[in-house]
Amino acid sequence: MKRVTLKEIYLHPIAQKYVKRAGLAHAISTANHAFNFALEHNVNPDLAVKAAFLHDIGHYTWYRNGQWDYTLYKENDIHAIKGAERAHKLLIRLDENPVAAKDIALAILLHTDSYLPDVGIRREPLQEVVALADEADEEPGGSHHYRTISKEEAEHAINELDNAINNYLKTQKKKQPAS
Ligand SMILES: [Fe+2]
Ligand SMILES: [Fe+2]
Repeated sequence: MKRVTLKEIYLHPIAQKYVKRAGLAHAISTANHAFNFALEHNVNPDLAVKAAFLHDIGHYTWYRNGQWDYTLYKENDIHAIKGAERAHKLLIRLDENPVAAKDIALAILLHTDSYLPDVGIRREPLQEVVALADEADEEPGGSHHYRTISKEEAEHAINELDNAINNYLKTQKKKQPAS
């Protein structure tokens, strides 16, 4: 089965609309962190990078009188739930492996607990990698959502990530004994 690339995801109109809403620079930077954390934690970087790139795809804009309203956001936000569903739909449309699409959606669902009652989440390694990557890119006051990146820089970073993932997958294949 052919791998769905990060570039294909990035170019899809759903990603163009909703990933940009929560900040393309944050999505790419989180994806970069996720690649590194994935190698450290022995997690498939293809899944980690895709989940990290899409982790905030479920955001809604909570503005009141032209200002971001944090109280409104805190009360009503379900971006991780919405994001898990939105990312899953997008991945299935792109013909992603359904098991991978589910793993990615779950990692998005659990990347934060800010919308949950205090139940205490126990994350699996892929989910932990995505949460760590998001945390690594967070800035005080949520300003990581407003950082900008040019189209050229974004596309360059996405190509680099795709190449790094392809190289990783090739090396893993070579390590497998011939059957
Ligand atoms: Fe988030
Ligand atoms: Fe985030």
